[in-house]
Amino acid sequence: MNHFDLRDGELFCEDVPLSRIAEAVGTPVYVYSSATLERHFTVLRDALAGAGVADPLIAFAVKANSNVSVLRTLGDLGAGADVVSEGEIRRALAAGIPGERIVFSGVGKTAREIAYALEVGVAELNVESEPELALVDTIGRQMGKRPDVAIRVNPDVEAGGHAKISTGKADNKFGVSFAEAERLYAMASNMAGLRAVGVACHIGSQITDLAPMEAAFAKMRGLVDRLRAEGLGVERLDLGGGLGVPYFNQPEPPSPADYAAMIARVTKGLDAKLAFEPGRMIAANAGILLAQVQHIHHRLEGRRFLVLDAAMNDLLRPAMYDAYHDIRPVKPREGEPLPYDVVGPVCETGDTFTRDRPLQPLKPGDLVAFMTAGAYGSTMASEYNSRLLVPEVLVKGDQFAVVRPRPSYDDMLARESAAPWL
Ligand code: LLP
Repeated sequence: MNHFDLRDGELFCEDVPLSRIAEAVGTPVYVYSSATLERHFTVLRDALAGAGVADPLIAFAVKANSNVSVLRTLGDLGAGADVVSEGEIRRALAAGIPGERIVFSGVGKTAREIAYALEVGVAELNVESEPELALVDTIGRQMGKRPDVAIRVNPDVEAGGHAKISTGKADNKFGVSFAEAERLYAMASNMAGLRAVGVACHIGSQITDLAPMEAAFAKMRGLVDRLRAEGLGVERLDLGGGLGVPYFNQPEPPSPADYAAMIARVTKGLDAKLAFEPGRMIAANAGILLAQVQHIHHRLEGRRFLVLDAAMNDLLRPAMYDAYHDIRPVKPREGEPLPYDVVGPVCETGDTFTRDRPLQPLKPGDLVAFMTAGAYGSTMASEYNSRLLVPEVLVKGDQFAVVRPRPSYDDMLARESAAPWL
């Protein structure tokens, strides 16, 4: 469900025609719908409440979409933030999300980042290894603080999705084994520079089958039961994110209601505060990348290249994961669909969004929208080929605001300086 619809032959975001945004801001540009963001968050929150999951922390995975206005839209509804760097903590705080709703994950937290997290008082650090546990303990003691810590477990399940985004297999870099988690938890319970409060996992992303999730979560529950049987206090269980979204041609992901029912099933009678770290399911369908057709060039051999002004540096997912994004003309023309190779201007063959995709006929100057681009779209963008970082627009009803402007070339060059010997 999203708020990008055709009205009178033109694609709108809520009550704003996309062509109006293109005129005002230029292309390429990301466009987000407040109504879709709000809907996805409330649907998940209400599904969990409906299934009897009391007062969970829903910490939006900031890596999916870190625009401060997007974070504020969700934070105002009560969302927390799952962060993996000092930069993401700063973004969450700037969006008004208080420290007590921020969970700090990630395998490579630096001493500086940990100290910063303690200074601002994040709710929980999800610790992924023994050396990291020791570092948090040391910094906690030095600063006279005892931050709440959860041990991140790698449940060793195959949860589908692309190999590059699977995180829950034993040979991935994330988390520790169940046996290791028990040992570290006991150790952490005796540390003066932190407080062991729970266990956490995140098994992967774009998961469209609940069975591997349920299997992993049942193992996590077993771990909580074992730790408690050893006399260790466990107050929290963080079950990560990972729920998939429909990218048009893929299996329908489970509904939030089915997900919530599964959570209620595996955590029945557990008496622990649950946390979730959804990213994609909240933001993906809430955003599009709007681009303009620059050229259409036909090869004698028959290929038809649609050259856009958006490129792999703006939306990396097709190049990096062979990801499929539906491409919709903003003002569809009459006529039979034609097969297009849709490419960007970057000097790499990998800068190909799709090959032989049947699309309504297009002409230079036409606008197209890459759908389902609100998660891992703009956050993965770069300036490769010295292309300006793609701007972002947030829509609410009939209003829109530029929430990250397109920088100027002067801005881009001003960040660099000549070496003194030049
Ligand atoms: N929590 C942790 C610890 C994570 O590592 C991730 C995602 C999430 C939560 C959120 O997962 P989600 O609900 O969005 O599936 N760039 C890739 C996705 C990488 C996901 C990495 N971790 C893509 O474009 O598909």
